[in-house]
Amino acid sequence: MQTAYRTHTCGALRAADEGSEAVISGWVNVIRDQGGVLFVDVRDRHGLTQATFRGDRDPELLAAAEKVRGEWVVQVTGRVVRRPPEAVNAGMATGEIELEATKLRVLSKAETPPFPLDERGDNVSSEIRLRHRYLDLRRRRQTEFLAARAKISGTMRRHLEAQGFIDIETPTLISSTPEGARDYLVPSRVHPGSFYALPQSPQLFKQLLMIGGQDRYYQFARCYRDEDLRADRQPEFTQVDLEASFVEQEDLFALLEPCVAELIETWRGERIERPFQRLAYADVMARFGSDKPDLRNPLELVDVTAEGAALGFAPFTATADSGGLIKVLRGPGAGQFSRKEIDALEAEARGMGAPGLAWAKWTDGKATGPLARFLEGDAGAAFLAKIGVQSGDWFCCAAGSAGLVHRILGHLRDTVARKLELVDFKANSVLWVTDFPLVAWNEDEGRFDAMHHPFTSPSDEMAELLVRRSAGEPVSPDILAGMPSKAYDLVFNGAEVGGGSIRIHRADVQAAVFDLLAISAEEQERRFGWFVQALRYGTPPHGGLAFGFDRFVMSLLGEAGIQEVIAFPKTMTAADLLCRAPSPVDPQQLADLRLALCPDEAPADGRSS
Ligand code: AMO
Repeated sequence: MQTAYRTHTCGALRAADEGSEAVISGWVNVIRDQGGVLFVDVRDRHGLTQATFRGDRDPELLAAAEKVRGEWVVQVTGRVVRRPPEAVNAGMATGEIELEATKLRVLSKAETPPFPLDERGDNVSSEIRLRHRYLDLRRRRQTEFLAARAKISGTMRRHLEAQGFIDIETPTLISSTPEGARDYLVPSRVHPGSFYALPQSPQLFKQLLMIGGQDRYYQFARCYRDEDLRADRQPEFTQVDLEASFVEQEDLFALLEPCVAELIETWRGERIERPFQRLAYADVMARFGSDKPDLRNPLELVDVTAEGAALGFAPFTATADSGGLIKVLRGPGAGQFSRKEIDALEAEARGMGAPGLAWAKWTDGKATGPLARFLEGDAGAAFLAKIGVQSGDWFCCAAGSAGLVHRILGHLRDTVARKLELVDFKANSVLWVTDFPLVAWNEDEGRFDAMHHPFTSPSDEMAELLVRRSAGEPVSPDILAGMPSKAYDLVFNGAEVGGGSIRIHRADVQAAVFDLLAISAEEQERRFGWFVQALRYGTPPHGGLAFGFDRFVMSLLGEAGIQEVIAFPKTMTAADLLCRAPSPVDPQQLADLRLALCPDEAPADGRSS
């Protein structure tokens, strides 16, 4: 680490260096004045070193040091001495020594930062921190996040390369790759009126690499998605994207699990059994109401459609009659929930589209609450037996379409388990969710959407059926809706940290899937003709996955927000507060691109957090 400015970093000196001369450079962290002796902690990414300026040794040097302020960049030359025993700081890597200064050079002065750069900075609004992200990054916590991120990326590269994957870059000014979000578009100056799309993922290019014979590819790929943002989503994010030829799902799982297991062991301190647990999509939805269940949460949903319909509660009867679902979430010991807490849960359910929340408490053989009067008699007994009610429980029901019921109860399952402190957040759960349906019915648009993306392979049996359907064979909509695919997700502690599939490698199957998605022949040709043509030139069976790298790092570090582990993240309104993007552009730039803005939709500043 020796350079023109330093012999050691601020985290390097130890007792063994006693007596040697050293030069460090860094930021002034803390200054302590003990009358005649000044202690200056100098900081860099590697740590802190205490420099000591003693008036009895060098009054001029002390006077110079007294002028120094926090966050100035200084170079200190001195002799490494052991601290007296009472001054040793065991919590600091350099805590046994100090640098007795013989020289001080101010490399750069600094204005007073707008927020403290120690742990007090944790409570500062994210807007202020992001506006001055370069200062925020000096904080220990942020520095550690970035160092961890780099180590995690190193581990992933090492594993992938050991398995024969090679790093290949793919372009980012492309035509649309559908992954379910809106595209970020880039207007072309050379081709007025035409636009590039930034990749939502490198999906089609990685498949082309397989057609191009590259066998195993990976890339740390920037992806761009214009979608509603959440704590675990950014408009611009990184995927560890990979693809392999001549593989089936089992091969990919076997390739990837050692890497994931090593990361969990290193960063979460737990050895995870391999092979990882697998659950089919239909099972996780039925049991947990979510396709990314946190299995550290022991609560499971119970289907009471038959028992609920018999209670004589009109909304339940109507739901069962119309082919809907009734399910229960039982909170063991949740009978202690106050009315206020239950109202809050009900408000959450309403916010997710529930008309209300039917609930009851069960204490010493007696039900209370809105559902209580329906729980009497044999029908009530059968219902309570089905959910396995225990004294001291509170439970709630949701009725309606499977989608609605699972959305509501899947969400409440998390909230209730947290309230009851049933989740051990130090533990870890990793699982593959497999057998996703190929398509989901889009009620609003009256057609099927791809559950993963349109290049995902249906099961072999279904592939043949779809080709026959395209040729005119009638197939019932129920079969289509339940059609299994070869898609899978990796779920870690309740977060979807990766998703992938075995791909379609036959042009006729790809066309049949486009048909199923109601993408007309003309649109197929316009949007994907170039890709389908490539499929016709000898495509190996292939499949892959993309880890959501930021999200995976966030989960491994036990963080709740993705922004923390990204050096320069955007806000929840997709704004970069630091460089002020997006921003209006010069009229001349618009003219060059032959673009005009609609007056009603003048550019929103878009810079709030
Ligand atoms: P998918 O859309 O599932 O698959 O994306 C893969 C993983 O990327 C992460 N992710 C995100 N992370 C942060 N912010 C976002 N806005 C965001 N969106 C997705 C998730 C997700 O699991 N081409 C396919 C992969 C494949 O089939 O190989 C794809 O992109 O962790």
